[in-house]
Amino acid sequence: MLEVDCPCVTPEVVLKASGHVDKFTDLMVKDEKTGTCYRADHLLKDHCKDKLEKDLAMSADKAAEFKHILAVLDDLSAEELGAKIKEYGIVAPDTKNPLSDPYPFNLMFQTSIGPSGVSPGYMRPETAQGIFVNFKDLYYYNGNKLPFAAAQIGQAFRNEISPRQGLLRVREFTLAEIEHFVDPDDKSHPKYSEVEKLEFLMFPRDLQMSGQSAKRLCLGEAVSKGIVNNQTLAYFIGRVYLFLTRLGIDEERLRFRQHLPNEMAHYAADCWDAEIESSYGWIECVGIADRSAYDLRAHTDKSGVALVAQEKFAEPKEVEKLVITPIKKELGLAFKGNQKMVVEALEAMSEKEAMDMKSVLETKGEVEFEVCTLEKTVTITKKMVTISKEKKKEHQRVFTPSVIEPSFGIGRIIYCLYEHSFYMRPSKAGDEQLNVFRFPPLVAPIKCTVFPLVQNAQYEQVAKNISRSLTAAGISNKKDITGTSIGKRYARTDELGVPFAVTVDSTSSVTIRERDSKDQIRVSIDEVAAVVKEVSEGRATWADILKKYPAHTSASADE
Ligand code: ATP
Ligand code: GLY
Repeated sequence: MLEVDCPCVTPEVVLKASGHVDKFTDLMVKDEKTGTCYRADHLLKDHCKDKLEKDLAMSADKAAEFKHILAVLDDLSAEELGAKIKEYGIVAPDTKNPLSDPYPFNLMFQTSIGPSGVSPGYMRPETAQGIFVNFKDLYYYNGNKLPFAAAQIGQAFRNEISPRQGLLRVREFTLAEIEHFVDPDDKSHPKYSEVEKLEFLMFPRDLQMSGQSAKRLCLGEAVSKGIVNNQTLAYFIGRVYLFLTRLGIDEERLRFRQHLPNEMAHYAADCWDAEIESSYGWIECVGIADRSAYDLRAHTDKSGVALVAQEKFAEPKEVEKLVITPIKKELGLAFKGNQKMVVEALEAMSEKEAMDMKSVLETKGEVEFEVCTLEKTVTITKKMVTISKEKKKEHQRVFTPSVIEPSFGIGRIIYCLYEHSFYMRPSKAGDEQLNVFRFPPLVAPIKCTVFPLVQNAQYEQVAKNISRSLTAAGISNKKDITGTSIGKRYARTDELGVPFAVTVDSTSSVTIRERDSKDQIRVSIDEVAAVVKEVSEGRATWADILKKYPAHTSASADE
């Protein structure tokens, strides 16, 4: 996987080609008197939830209707949302004023590049574009072979209509994205067998639409039944599951939800969100999209050639090729200055579009044809284009790669990790509770605290030496040389989520205590760093370590 680091400010041409300028929108409604803006789907969601919670006299039919709306909310069009807002009499939450019809609002922050003001640009709404525009070089670095992946971690910017849910919806956030480029005719994955037996909560489209809940499914079965489209998409779903649970996300509160048809981004062919349950409800933290509908050809390299991949054949192959020949004279007469755009649109048709056009032209003599670059539909007649399939010898295949894209919202994952790691531990006497973050050693920000049992120069020197050896081994650690009781110092380190605490109680060996079990072992001074490193890096579990070293019991430490 090749890591890149591209700029945040992105020229308009790039985001025009990717479709974001035209389609990266959310639906908004305005308070008709004050102009305050709200996200249309959020208002409808709040209304349905509120009714379900508070209107206890509601009929079963009405309750089913509200539940259905909540299940398909992301699938509703602007018209459908507007109709529901009217039907339920939803008004602006702050002023109770009437609301406008929903209309799309582009989420990108616009800027202009350079002093002249004539080169529009945007703050990137995702990091993916930096990878797409560099596809040709990245492909070259990979020996012009698929599959390969590139990744980028960086800031993304979205002009969210109504940021809420604290840190979960912000206008600037860290995104980490992988673009895994793959042959559209072969989406198998060499490491698929490593994930196919995994089982976890999945929420396919049909379960959502029929009002059911997420189910534990085996990933391999989901692929063989066609619920998950292909091995590569499944491979990344599996890896995201492993990643999140290894971080400490509770697997009972993690589900993979498939996007509803209208919910998908404009470039996606299938999409699954890793959603984590937090005190704000189920939150999308990682999107895993099969971006097969993404047209990489819309981007071009520096010499103006569309970005594509090639496969050279060992032997020339006879293939049936689609040939689209626009008849320029006829098109020129009909469309004058717009001829070039119509020609380009005809030539860019997919095989299916072209064959459908051919059959309509043969039966009816003319066909309506949408030219996106003209933003209108034109009439194409039989005289204007010939479409045929011809047998040809080919030495290579030129094609647009598909791309599978896991997209990790780092802030949301970390927020959920804090919630899932938090628990309250009753004290022995049962009177007080202690707040503890149960971070797995692998992700704990501080791995180890070191403290002398009593304040004395010799023990303090040993603590210093151990801290140095931990730092040298790359283990983040913190000394606590305050004179507070040992029980209190253990409590402090537990509250911070530090998994291990080293207590110096002699000048030859020390104790290491594990946060959750409170078990202690005795280890010689020069082995401490190696032991802590081994468990912190996940090469051994605490149970493995317990077997190797003598246990240590201490009454005072349990206080
Ligand atoms: P939502 O539906 O919650 O607005 P989205 O569908 O727009 O999210 P994606 O476009 O799939 O999100 O973005 C990829 C990831 O980026 C998400 O999984 C999420 O973790 C993160 N993300 C998106 N928007 C925000 C935001 N405003 N603040 C923080 N993280 C975000
Ligand atoms: N790149 C995926 C997303 O932003 O949705």
